Amino acid sequence: QQNGALAGRAVVVTAGGTREALDPVRYLGNRSSGKQGVAVAEAALAAGARVTFIGGAMSVEPPAGAEVVRVESTQELHEAVMAHAPGADALVMAAAVADFRPAEYADSKIKKSEDGSNPVIRLERTPDILAEAVQARAAGQPMPGTIIGFGAETGDATASVLEFGAAKLARKGCEMLVVNQVGRDKVFGQDTTEVTMLFADGREPVAAAGDKSEVGVAIVTELAGLLGPLGRL
Ligand code: C5P
Repeated sequence: QQNGALAGRAVVVTAGGTREALDPVRYLGNRSSGKQGVAVAEAALAAGARVTFIGGAMSVEPPAGAEVVRVESTQELHEAVMAHAPGADALVMAAAVADFRPAEYADSKIKKSEDGSNPVIRLERTPDILAEAVQARAAGQPMPGTIIGFGAETGDATASVLEFGAAKLARKGCEMLVVNQVGRDKVFGQDTTEVTMLFADGREPVAAAGDKSEVGVAIVTELAGLLGPLGRL
């Protein structure tokens, strides 16, 4: 489709979970299915965009019609985003990126000790890829003008899911944050979801609910609104 809302646009979408190796056979991972990121990529393709899909560990197939890059760790995802985002019109960070990774990697499989003591795994922070892309842009590098993040929030006694989302939007510095409520058996792996899209430019939040494919279309509709019409040369 050449005349869709994203015709002539290049969009980079990340999806799925990262895996952080402990040793050659073990990793720390998360329950991301990749479904929401795949749905966003498919909606962007249907709207006429050229899509680069960067996928971590997923339980679904990457979108047909996209340029597909597969990654495993946060470091690989980081490198892939920094390689593919420059020059794109939009970056959509739907991937569930590890916030922590093992501080040391054991070159051979960690063994049960003779004396019965348990191993201790020390963790370190991973780079915040989304925040770095925003910072790189602020420093004058050719990063997409529209960067979208996701926030899985639970809320607590002091603040609601949307309050946490608004704070995260401001902290990351991106143009839009897709907030969903997680916890119990919500969202991860499921086919349906409920999100609220928050915007840095002060426009009113937009809610969307339903199949992840429908929510993908809603996210792409807002993305197209942020990008605006493509100027004629
Ligand atoms: O801070 P939090 O992990 O909740 O932020 C979620 C958003 O930030 C998602 O869009 C995710 O893809 C991105 N992220 C990232 N690098 C990290 C952690 C999260 O780009 N290390």
